[in-house]
Amino acid sequence: MSAIVISGKDVANRMRSELKDKVSKFIEEKNIVPNLAVILVGENPASVSYVTGKQKGCEQTNMKSTMIRMPIETTEQDLLNAVKKLNNDETVHGILVQLPLPKHINENKIIDTISVEKDVDGFSPINVGKMVLNEDCFLPCTPAGIIKLIKETNIDMTGKHAVIIGRSNIVGKPVTHLLLRENATVTVCHSRTKNLSEFTRNADILVAAIGKAKFVTKDMIKPGAVVIDVGVNRVDSKLYGDVDYENVLDVASYITPVPGGVGPMTITMLLENTFEACKRMIK
Ligand code: GUN
Repeated sequence: MSAIVISGKDVANRMRSELKDKVSKFIEEKNIVPNLAVILVGENPASVSYVTGKQKGCEQTNMKSTMIRMPIETTEQDLLNAVKKLNNDETVHGILVQLPLPKHINENKIIDTISVEKDVDGFSPINVGKMVLNEDCFLPCTPAGIIKLIKETNIDMTGKHAVIIGRSNIVGKPVTHLLLRENATVTVCHSRTKNLSEFTRNADILVAAIGKAKFVTKDMIKPGAVVIDVGVNRVDSKLYGDVDYENVLDVASYITPVPGGVGPMTITMLLENTFEACKRMIK
């Protein structure tokens, strides 16, 4: 058996093309261009690459992106001031501060400062709280993209056992809540979990968000499982997911590739959130 590959790239392109049409119509009618402001502190190559992808995504969907690059020595106060300035700028509809930030800056403090209405990453405490309570809010982009990809399989998540490896604020924790919303039974595993394979071998849906290349091997997979690989690991300038893709292909029913899986979906959800933020702001 060979798994069906869920192409995040194809799904993302389809969504972006539909979004572009909606944005173009909106610009014609309202004469306002949705604008995503992105702050990048420092020159971390992975962050530069992510941010470039976000800018390209804006171009692709006829939205504007405003790039703010700040040096690695930027103080917390300077960054707070930059965020506040964007909060007060009516021409900016979405704000994203690329993470991770340098160690001398308190990430939570920065995220708390982004206006809730412009928090298109869905990272602010208010948006996180609303997500947990199933209230209307901006959903965090990677978890929302993961749910879209699982829905592509047409498999009903109700009652399925979803196992997540990873408990980060960006992926593991929020995707737990989004899977619960879909009525899955959710288990969260992490670096301190004992006997990890015992959990993963029981997973109908496995979400791997560990950050270690090829960590999830064939023997850890329940035959027929849906495997979502969130890993982006650069080894000798090549990209690998957290899943041993070639071998897991033999046992899974569906699998997402790296690159071309979750990554393009994350950016697409960000673009959707930015357009939504813009529409809400002019109401
Ligand atoms: N760093 C890695 N992923 C993300 C993301 O989704 N948003 C931000 N702001 N930083 C990130």
